[in-house]
Amino acid sequence: MVKKICCIGAGYVGGPAMAVMAQKCPSIEVAVVDVSRPRIDAWNSDRLPVHEPGLYAVVRACRGRNLSFSSDVDRHVADADIVFVSVNTPTKSRGLGAGLAADLAYWESAARMVASAASRSATNGESKSKIVVEKSSVPVRTAEAMERILLAHGGGEGDDAAFHVVSNPEFFSEGTAMRDLLCPDRVLIGGRDRDAVRALVDVYAHWVPEDRIVTTTSLCSAELSKLAANAFLAQRVTSANAISALCEAVGADVSDVSRAVAMDRRVGGGAFLNAGVGFGGPGFHRDVLRLAYACDCNGLPEAAEYWRQVVAVNEYQKSRFVRRVVSSMFGTVAGKKVAVLGFAFKKGVADTRESPAVDVCRGLLGDRAHVSMYDPAVSEKQILRDTAGKVRVARDAYEAAEGAHGLCVLTEWEEFRTLDYRRIFDGMQRPAFVFDGRNVVDVGKLREIGFVVYSVGKPLDPWLKGLPAVA
Ligand SMILES: NC(=O)c1ccc[n+]([C@@H]2O[C@H](COP(=O)([O-])OP(=O)(O)OC[C@H]3O[C@@H](n4cnc5c(N)ncnc54)[C@H](O)[C@@H]3O)[C@@H](O)[C@H]2O)c1
Repeated sequence: MVKKICCIGAGYVGGPAMAVMAQKCPSIEVAVVDVSRPRIDAWNSDRLPVHEPGLYAVVRACRGRNLSFSSDVDRHVADADIVFVSVNTPTKSRGLGAGLAADLAYWESAARMVASAASRSATNGESKSKIVVEKSSVPVRTAEAMERILLAHGGGEGDDAAFHVVSNPEFFSEGTAMRDLLCPDRVLIGGRDRDAVRALVDVYAHWVPEDRIVTTTSLCSAELSKLAANAFLAQRVTSANAISALCEAVGADVSDVSRAVAMDRRVGGGAFLNAGVGFGGPGFHRDVLRLAYACDCNGLPEAAEYWRQVVAVNEYQKSRFVRRVVSSMFGTVAGKKVAVLGFAFKKGVADTRESPAVDVCRGLLGDRAHVSMYDPAVSEKQILRDTAGKVRVARDAYEAAEGAHGLCVLTEWEEFRTLDYRRIFDGMQRPAFVFDGRNVVDVGKLREIGFVVYSVGKPLDPWLKGLPAVA
């Protein structure tokens, strides 16, 4: 019977995932531990380090009851029946596989902490078998490496093992983390030891219907499933984006094409089939490259090349957008004011990691445009950090567009659909261009107002037809 759970890593995943577990399993004590004391202090305060709708209410209700945040890693790991490992696994910035492979240094240090905390409690005669759950997104076969580290510390083997390693990757999306955690499409649990898997199933079964808890998967299939899920989603967006380029060339409308494709039951719905300026966020780009790297490392260059193309087409889509902006504005944006609406990688988040808006801005700045930026959620500090201080940050869309020659929409925030575009038009230079990288504006209405409108994958504005597609 599981009484105590500990999670190493009080980050974006560990905090929300354990808060939900504590809420749904009142009989289990859940401790979230981290080497970073400021992080722990933040989790114990009213200003949590992670902002997700609904998170604060759950943390407030459970903190001090059966949920705690602590920097005493050893004690909580030693006490726990189940130890989740949810530490960061950034991409290596140097050495072998730099830019592609996962840096497993944090992950290995966590594995060693588990091993030594457990062997200390064994020495004190308090030994009990632990279930170690790999929650971080890791390369395939990392769980095996963890088993080796634990065994090397005298963890025993087979039925006598002091540790059983289980893979349970996290699939939630930023911005909807709580909803996804409370009502997941599936919970994947891969592992060799059936009792360990069953123990984790029993925890999730407090709130997840058993038919959504998948246990018929091996350790390495579970690990690969996480990479594959992100890569498939990135690939879907990229397929729509590749079609968008052809739509513009032949006068078709990518929204009509995507809708028709999505209606085919075999395709499984329209999610991630919207064309745009490119996918972003911390997971997609990284996981596609990790998948390609895994293929390369296993002697599969053709498969690796396939996945690398997903990233290459995403880069193409971003640069295609910049070139369209420049070519439309008579081949030069030098000295012209260009308003950018939206900097986050998607609506509903303040995260700019791998945001296509960052690259589009770099492209415009490279052509010496004066960029004026507005995003409803991203802080001014973050915008300036991502653009090396080279853009002006406006308080709202109207201020950003005042006096501009062109306006680019780069995040699909709802508020950009309902702006007073007549007012924006009145304040802009002539001709006034709108470049919609997210298909959010009403193209017909804006053309009636007098804008020259480009919207990714839509039939071109008659005004743009004679111009080259690329600068
Ligand atoms: N952020 C997401 O939306 C998301 C979604 C699904 C999966 N993931 C994956 O989950 C994992 C965790 O991601 P995150 O976003 O929570 O990372 P994060 O950087 O927000 O948090 C990781 C935490 O682990 C702590 N840590 C590192 N080494 C430690 C150690 N040895 N002992 C104790 N604490 C340690 C760090 O101090 C940090 O606070 C990653 O593998 C990530 O790829 C992230």
